[in-house]
Order: sequence, then structure tokens, then C-alpha cells
Amino acid sequence: MRLVRLRDAGRPRIAVTLDGAALEAQEGDTLLTALLAGGAGHLRMSEFGDGPRAGFCLMGACQDCWVAVEGMGRVRACTTLAQDGMAVRRG
Ligand code: FES
Repeated sequence: MRLVRLRDAGRPRIAVTLDGAALEAQEGDTLLTALLAGGAGHLRMSEFGDGPRAGFCLMGACQDCWVAVEGMGRVRACTTLAQDGMAVRRG
């Protein structure tokens, strides 16, 4: 899955890492938007064997976007705002 920014591309930049790799995000992004627009591709592998997952509902209901953030533990990427310096690990 890949998100492409169609508007608001001029917001201030912030830096996050995903599995140790640097990604550029924008202030106001949810973590899910930041990761997918930054090229993450997926957030986790399905425990039911049906492949990579990258969020589904985008509103905190489906549990499909869990990631681990250093200092915060497991969070839903779609309901967590990206912050400068966040270190994220895929679940
Ligand atoms: S995408 Fe459904 S809870 Fe985050």
C-alpha cells in the first residue's frame, strides 16, 4: 500500500524512523499516514497468513495498524500523531 500526498505538502517536516530507517513526515500526520506516505509499504504481517497489512479502517476500530513506538509501547498508527524523533518498529 502506498499513500500519495495530494495537498498540504508544505507543512513543516519531521523525522521518524521505521525499523531503523529514516522517513520524512509532516507535522500533523498520523503515524499511519507518515509511514505509508514515506514508503513503508506495510505495517505488519497478518497472523492468519494472508500477507502484509497496512491498516484498514483508518479510524481506530480494526486493530490492523499496531506498531511499537520507543517509549510509548504498542500504538495504533492511525490514531497516533507522528512526532519528530519517533522510533517505530513494525509489529
Ligand atoms: S487502521 Fe484500523 S485501527 Fe488503525
